[in-house]
Amino acid sequence: MKRVLIATEKPFAPAAVNQMVGILEQAGYEVKRLEKYASKAELLDAVKDVNALIVRSDIVDRAVLDAAKELQVVVRAGSGFDNLDLVTCTEKGMVAMNTPGQNSNAVAELAIGMMIFMSRGQFKGVSGTELKGKTIGVYGCGNIGRRVARIAQGLGMKVIALDPCITKVSMEPYDVKVVQNVAELFSESDFLSLHIPANEKTKKSVNFDMMNKMPKGATIINTARKEVIDEDGLKKMLEERPDFKYISDIAPTNHDELAGKFDFRYYSTPKKQGAETSEANVNAGVAAAEQIVAFFESGDQAYRVNK
Ligand code: 3PG
Repeated sequence: MKRVLIATEKPFAPAAVNQMVGILEQAGYEVKRLEKYASKAELLDAVKDVNALIVRSDIVDRAVLDAAKELQVVVRAGSGFDNLDLVTCTEKGMVAMNTPGQNSNAVAELAIGMMIFMSRGQFKGVSGTELKGKTIGVYGCGNIGRRVARIAQGLGMKVIALDPCITKVSMEPYDVKVVQNVAELFSESDFLSLHIPANEKTKKSVNFDMMNKMPKGATIINTARKEVIDEDGLKKMLEERPDFKYISDIAPTNHDELAGKFDFRYYSTPKKQGAETSEANVNAGVAAAEQIVAFFESGDQAYRVNK
């Protein structure tokens, strides 16, 4: 009998867990759950005898993969898979997957909400600015970026876009101008919404020089990953450009230094909440469970992310 572990330091909504367990048990698998675990040791112990693992942002590094002697497949229920050690997965013959697109609407809605929050003075009763007629740069043209583009158009914004990882970007069917380079994207964006993955190419790529190209009064909205920001550059930007604003769903390492110092211009959610909706949890969790069943029953590897 196949054993599947759902290991989530940040648990899925109960409706999602119920459906995931139902799908896996229906397939005849045994389901183990490890939620809100306090130490890595608990995860290392729980993975020992499982054939499949479902996680969210939980770190699946070499230590976890070494401990998981029976593991054949790990699914990141979500989009970004920078928490999985893909090299070790490949080395051990394990399949790693994500569930692309399943939580994209939740993240896109949060990005738009954050943009409104910042343009209206963090709802503190001051005079703000409207979004209609302003330009939003969508940096990263995957499922989330495309959804942001569509909603922004509904708000009457001009949308421009660029993807650092895809050479031939298409934003069809939306009326979006795909710009030529990153300097053009930054210099034309009143609002810049980040939807790029954290990888060797993108880490610290949003740096002072790039941010400083942004127009007066510009705002960066980061619902992607903190690693893509050059945090010293962000601090310098906030210090040297009193018109610049930054909002994030993933607190930078220097959050304590920034919070409170730049009133109205800096904000970070206390805990990452982009994919924290019951709909997104159900979508991503169910997709993960179904992908595991498809993998074991018919060898399906459609969403594989390692070589
Ligand atoms: C993702 O990559 O799918 C999002 O960042 C969601 O991450 P989470 O599952 O940790 O909320």
